[in-house]
Amino acid sequence: MRRENTVRRAGAVCLAITCALVAWPAPAGAQDQPTYARDVAPIIQANCQVCHQAGSIAPMSLMTYEAVKRYAPRIREKVTARLMPPWHIDRSVGIQEFKNDQALTEEELETLVAWLDSDMPLGDEADMPPPAEFPDPSAWQFESTFGRPPDLVVPSEPYTLAAKTQDKWFTPTVPTGLTGERWVKAIEIRPSWPDGPKIVHHALAFLIQQEDPDEMTAETAELSTSSRAMGGAGLFMEWAVGKVGEIFPDGAGKLMLPGSRIRWEVHYHAIGREVRDSYVELGIWLYPEGYVPENRTRLRMFNATGDALDIPPGKIAVTQDTYTMRWPARLENFQPHMHMRGKAMSMSAIYPDGRKELLSQVTNFQWNWHVNYIYADDAAPLLPAGTTLVFTAWHDNTPENPNNPDHTQWVGWGDRTVDEMAHAWVDVTYLTDEQYAAAVAEREARTAEQNENKEEGNNR
Ligand code: HEC
Repeated sequence: MRRENTVRRAGAVCLAITCALVAWPAPAGAQDQPTYARDVAPIIQANCQVCHQAGSIAPMSLMTYEAVKRYAPRIREKVTARLMPPWHIDRSVGIQEFKNDQALTEEELETLVAWLDSDMPLGDEADMPPPAEFPDPSAWQFESTFGRPPDLVVPSEPYTLAAKTQDKWFTPTVPTGLTGERWVKAIEIRPSWPDGPKIVHHALAFLIQQEDPDEMTAETAELSTSSRAMGGAGLFMEWAVGKVGEIFPDGAGKLMLPGSRIRWEVHYHAIGREVRDSYVELGIWLYPEGYVPENRTRLRMFNATGDALDIPPGKIAVTQDTYTMRWPARLENFQPHMHMRGKAMSMSAIYPDGRKELLSQVTNFQWNWHVNYIYADDAAPLLPAGTTLVFTAWHDNTPENPNNPDHTQWVGWGDRTVDEMAHAWVDVTYLTDEQYAAAVAEREARTAEQNENKEEGNNR
């Protein structure tokens, strides 16, 4: 859908009867002046309107030509800074193939900015695409992916948040109701609609169940400089504004046992009016009964705080932690978590042969957007045993940080949004040596095949 627009535009350029004639020495932009109806509306529809419509989460609607024109200066500012759509991974370094990429392509950005910089013509109304249809924002977002609602829904208990109060933490424990052993294919967390997403800063769901301790628990899986990695089998799912959920690749998933319970940790912040009976729900899509995936995925919290977070007033602070993997592993995603002074976070690998690779970096972290960057199957990092993962975090406590509530304060680690944190949520699937070798061989074969296809295409 995204490419379509570019193709359309390129076509339009050449449709201007005499491509060659106007191209030289035509005044720049005379013929390929983008119009709203033909060029811009499809971009806004595909990339913005899902949130920028009445009743959704964004502050203003961008459903009409007039609205887009009215907000032009702010749109220009946000899209060129790559703050909107919310996709803040650094595009100049690291892995760029994701399952849930929602950034504008370079071509889309160029078209949109060219139009914003012009006198913003509507163009020919006949070019206007039909109105886009959107899924109900209060519905389960993965329902369209799996063609069915979740197999299991586990709500937290209801909570009433006062209009004005300090941040609150709510930690009810509820039964999952599961009566047999099942493996999880996907998890979505959904705060109650419509106020939930406005007051829930983040929610953690811990899975409590009786199981034999296995060797790949948080304490033993990686040898770390800080020994503050958290997680493993028990940590089920984390949610923060901007995140939908997690889908595990075929052959991997999370295990749930009969009699299991969810311990919630919901962090609320007040919005100036009372919100009654708010709750958070887990939607769980299961593998078929009896199916056992080859591998178990574990959500890990990798700290990047070093010995301690020590962020002086008016300064930028950098901290780092390292983790050496005891088993081969595939990393399914990267999701940095910091608060209002969070500036950037990176995840790098130092391989046992000494090679270093920057896997992912969010350079323009936005504390109100906890985007989960889910690697495409062919791009998810495959790490041999002995790889050291390096997590580096930057906090900006200067007045230049527009989200900084007070640059004269010293800041340390803490739960409140005005305190700081620095960790990444990463789903780790540990592999046996054989599985690792097979996965590497399979990926190499596929890459070779793709290159061959490309060459064939070029020779044609
Ligand atoms: C996933 C939902 C989502 C998508 C997609 C999205 N936005 Fe937003 N947008 C928001 C939310 C929520 C806010 C308010 C919070 C913030 O600024 O981060 C916002 C804020 C903005 C603002 C700033 C408004 C102000 O108060 O100044 C602009 C401008 C904007 N978006 C434009 C766009 C454009 C243009 C697109 C598409 C190219 C887009 N957004 C895509 C959710 C979204």
